[in-house]
Amino acid sequence: MHVAVTGGGGFLGSHLCEALLRRGDSVVCLDNFSTGEPKNIAHLRDNPGFAFIHADVSTAVDVPGPIDAVAHLASPASPPDYLRWPLETLAVGSRGTENCLRLAQRHDARFVLASTSEVYGDPLAHPQEEDYWGNVNPVGPRSVYDEAKRYAEALSAAYRRTRGVNAGILRIFNTYGPRMRPRDGRVVSSFITQALSGEPLTLYGDGKQTRSFCFVDDLVRGIVAMLDSPEGGPFNLGNPEERTVTELAELVLDITGSVSELQYHPLPVDDPARRRPVITRAQERLAWYPDVGIEEGLRRTVEWFAARPREVAAGAAAIRGGQQDGVPAVVSAVP
Ligand SMILES: NC(=O)c1ccc[n+]([C@@H]2O[C@H](COP(=O)([O-])OP(=O)(O)OC[C@H]3O[C@@H](n4cnc5c(N)ncnc54)[C@H](O)[C@@H]3O)[C@@H](O)[C@H]2O)c1
Repeated sequence: MHVAVTGGGGFLGSHLCEALLRRGDSVVCLDNFSTGEPKNIAHLRDNPGFAFIHADVSTAVDVPGPIDAVAHLASPASPPDYLRWPLETLAVGSRGTENCLRLAQRHDARFVLASTSEVYGDPLAHPQEEDYWGNVNPVGPRSVYDEAKRYAEALSAAYRRTRGVNAGILRIFNTYGPRMRPRDGRVVSSFITQALSGEPLTLYGDGKQTRSFCFVDDLVRGIVAMLDSPEGGPFNLGNPEERTVTELAELVLDITGSVSELQYHPLPVDDPARRRPVITRAQERLAWYPDVGIEEGLRRTVEWFAARPREVAAGAAAIRGGQQDGVPAVVSAVP
């Protein structure tokens, strides 16, 4: 297949580009590097099947040559990022998604939207099935991300229903792994960064809120399965193994061998209390199930971070600096 990957210079997108190239697809990666980094795809540049277009997909999307599928991942995804770029996040969820749907329509291509568990907001139903409509505060600070993704889902469903676009929706739950930025403010990367630097691990609330953490290789396998499928979804993709944030912190301390202390801070606005996906649909329709347990996934992630001491030290300083400015550097709810 010829696949266009928007946001391909980011954490998930770069792993997706790699996985597609590995199985023989050709990839056009579109990114504006607002939250991604050129070094994430530097190792792919010499691959003859790989091309890169520097573009803001909220403005326009044009890709020369054939396209069989569009994977739309472009969007700030970490809470500090979308809180810093609220309007850009709304733009890429709305105009950006429509530009990508039109691209798919022009090429008669498959379209897959990387939506999020954040469409469930602070869920009143637990665990979360796809039929649950969510509990989102439409005017809270997080709404720029949650509502942008909800609108992106509505657009994708409407293009499927009324324009004949073969569009499918994935609701991705917390995913972690190599290539997360040490300073990007997601709970796994922040805990590892703080533990490796001997800094206290910052927990919000009482640390009893739960999340389910999926290793990136498992998640990317799910995106590829969705690209190959004609299903519309929405499908939850995530690891149903649920952990409290405190348990996660203790696991990170154990794996890194760190003696950092746990430091508790007030809970940010609208931080969801519980998150766990029901993944029966993805299991039945995509034959997808995550394989990598949290201990193994964390070990691989810690190894990757530990090999980058300078970035980790800079990340720890940035987290510390953000806290001094009153910016929550670690938000326990990862999108
Ligand atoms: N990682 C997770 O746990 C998770 C969970 C749920 C959903 N998602 C979704 O998956 C996608 C990728 O997330 P990620 O974790 O890799 O985040 P990321 O920030 O690492 O990657 C996002 C990429 O999109 C690019 N981008 C942003 N706005 C753009 C624009 N207007 N035009 C072109 N490129 C743009 C960024 O530069 C970056 O490379 C996002 O859509 C996110 O909402 C991720």
